[in-house]
Amino acid sequence: MAIVTVPATARRITGLDDVKTFLAGFGIDHEIWPLEDRVDPAAPAEAILAAYAPEIEVLKHKGGFVTADVIDVRPETPNLDTMLAKFSKEHTHSEDEVRFILQGRGVFHVHAPAADGTDTVFAIEVGAGDLISVPVDTRHWFDLCDDRRIRAIRLFQDMSGWTPHYVEEGVHGAYEPLCLGPAWVSGSRGGAT
Ligand SMILES: [Fe+2]
Repeated sequence: MAIVTVPATARRITGLDDVKTFLAGFGIDHEIWPLEDRVDPAAPAEAILAAYAPEIEVLKHKGGFVTADVIDVRPETPNLDTMLAKFSKEHTHSEDEVRFILQGRGVFHVHAPAADGTDTVFAIEVGAGDLISVPVDTRHWFDLCDDRRIRAIRLFQDMSGWTPHYVEEGVHGAYEPLCLGPAWVSGSRGGAT
């Protein structure tokens, strides 16, 4: 379950409805998809894509996506630091960034104008079962949590795959990736704060 943190105000948002409402204010879709009762999240990529074919088809139709894959990142992934360095600098994409998390955890930081026009940075910690869609041209960056593990379905409009457009003088350096972990979410501290 996703957790949102707004560093500037020390605000933390948990609970499906509150997270969904907050993110919708920035045009970000968040859904919870079924996990273990659909397929073993460790199953081969082909089995994962087949198991979620109905949901993927809906997203393709809605967002103009043409292809989906499964990204698998582990601590032992070759050149992991180089790969993570590409994700962790503030950037945009010319299509929505859609990810469904199968295993592991990570943090998207989003840098976007709030409804009142003020510049806002907030973090969305995502874990298994979270689907997130960051809109086209939205400034963001991504870090793994300490276990450096993530497995996720990705959708693309462009067959060439993941293409970042880096933001000059990005603000990513001012924010630490904050991971609270699944225990925090499943504990008794739920609810908007
Ligand atoms: Fe991105």
